[in-house]
Amino acid sequence: MTVALERPTVELGGAVAHDVERTTASTAAESVDATCRASTAPPYRRFASIPFMGFAPNDLGFIADPYPVYAELRERAPVVLDRATNHWLVSRYEDVNTLLRDRRFGRTYHHLATDDEMGRPSAPEWHAPFWHLVRSGILDMEPPDHTRVRRLVAKAFTPRMAEALRPHVQRLMDENVDTVAGAGEIDLIPSIAEPLPVAVIAQLLGIPDEDRHLLRPWSADICRMYELAPTEEDARIAIRACVEFSDYLRQLSRARRAEPREDLISGLAQVVDEGERLTEDELIGTCVLLLNAGHEATVNVTGNGWWSLFRHPDQLRRLRSEPSLVPRAIEELMRFDTPLQMFERWVLEDVEICGVEVPKGAELGLLFGSANHDPAVFERPDELDLGRDPNPHLAFGAGVHFCLGAPLARIELETSFATLLRRFPRMELVEEPAWKPNYIIRGLEALRVRV
Ligand code: HEM
Repeated sequence: MTVALERPTVELGGAVAHDVERTTASTAAESVDATCRASTAPPYRRFASIPFMGFAPNDLGFIADPYPVYAELRERAPVVLDRATNHWLVSRYEDVNTLLRDRRFGRTYHHLATDDEMGRPSAPEWHAPFWHLVRSGILDMEPPDHTRVRRLVAKAFTPRMAEALRPHVQRLMDENVDTVAGAGEIDLIPSIAEPLPVAVIAQLLGIPDEDRHLLRPWSADICRMYELAPTEEDARIAIRACVEFSDYLRQLSRARRAEPREDLISGLAQVVDEGERLTEDELIGTCVLLLNAGHEATVNVTGNGWWSLFRHPDQLRRLRSEPSLVPRAIEELMRFDTPLQMFERWVLEDVEICGVEVPKGAELGLLFGSANHDPAVFERPDELDLGRDPNPHLAFGAGVHFCLGAPLARIELETSFATLLRRFPRMELVEEPAWKPNYIIRGLEALRVRV
C-alpha cells in the first residue's frame, strides 16, 4: 500500500475497485431508476434496494452476517461506489485506519462549504431540528470548533476519571443482577445490558433520577436517522425526539447554570458564553451526543458479545475458567462482531484512493466491521480468540474523532461481563436471537437467557 500524505492525492492499496464498479454500475443504475419509478416514498428512501456484491444494509440476512460480503469487497473491490446507497465503500483495515486520520475527509463539510458548493442536495427544511442538533455536537464538528469543544468535555472522560468510577459501576451492576437473580428466564438486553450504561452516563451528566426513563426512547428515536435509509416516519419520530430532548436539556442546563451541582452539565453550563468557549447549542448537541453514544454501542456490545460467546462454547468455557481474560475478551468481542458497522466521511477535495478517483462531495462508508476482519492485520480473522493479543481493532474509531468514552465503555463492559460470569456461572441461551433491522448501530432485538 502506498499512502502519499504530503501529496494532494491518496493512493491506497493496489486495487481493481473501479473495474468492478464499472461493470456493475449500469445494472445498479437501471435498478435504481426502476425503484425510483415504482416508489412513492421521498427520494432519500429510494436507495434502499440494490445489493452491491451482496452489500444490502436493509436486508436482515446481510445484517445477521455481513462478514462474507466484506471478504469479497476487500478482495475484489476495496474502494467502490455502491450506487444504491451512494456511498463509496472502503473495506480494508489499512485504508479505513488511514482515512480516519486524514484531514481531507471530514465528518462534516459545513465548516468549509455550502451544500451547493459541495454538489450535495440540501436536507428538507423540516429536517432542520435534527441537523441543527447533530451539527452542534462534537462528532459532527471539525477543527477548530471540534478541538475547542472536545477539550472542554474530555476532562470528564480521561482514563483516570473512568477508573475512579469503577466501584460505582460495580455497585450499579450488582444491584441489577440482584434484581434478576432467581428470575429463571430473562431478556438480557433490557434487564442487564441497558440499565448500566444508561445509569452511568445519566449520572455523570446530572440527569435527575426521575427523568432517566426518557433517555433511552429519545436516543432510540434519534438513532433512526443514523441508518442509511430512514423512512419519512423515521424522520418525523427522530425530529420530534430532537425537539423534546433539546428543550429538556436547555431547561436543565439553565437551571444548573443558576444553581450548579457536581455534574458535567453544571460544569459546561458555567462556561457557556455564546462564542468564546461554548455556545448553549453546542452544550445541548454535545450532551445529547454523550447521552446517546454513551449507551447505544455499549448495550450492543453486551448483547452481541454474549451471543458470540454462546455460539463459541469452547471460548465461553475458557473465559469462565480464566476470568482474568475478561479485558482482552472484551476487545476481541468488539473486533469479532463490531457494534458500529460503518461510519461516514465526506470527501473535502478531489482525491485518488486505491487508484480510484473519488470526487469532492462524495460520501465514504468506512466499513469498520470489515476492517476488523481483514486478514492482512488479524490472523484467522473469522475465529473468535478471546486471548488475541495484539488486537488493534478499530471498533472505537481513530483520529480526532476517536471515541471519547472508550475508557468508560471498557470499564462498564469489563464489570458487566465479569459480574455475569461470576454470578451466573451456568447462564445459558434460551433461543436464537433476532437482529434489529439496523445496520450501522447493529444489535439484537432481545437475548433470552436462563440465569
Ligand atoms: C463499546 C462502546 C462504544 C463504542 C464501540 C464506541 C464507538 C465510537 C466510534 C467508532 C466513534 C468514532 C466515530 C467516527 O469516527 O465517526 C465514537 C465517537 C464518540 N463516542 Fe463512542 N463508543 C462507545 C462508547 C461510548 C461511550 C460510553 C461514550 C460516552 C462517554 C462515547 C462517546 C463518544 C463521543 C462523544 C464520540 C465523539 C468523539 C469526537 O467526535 O471527538 N462512546 N465512538
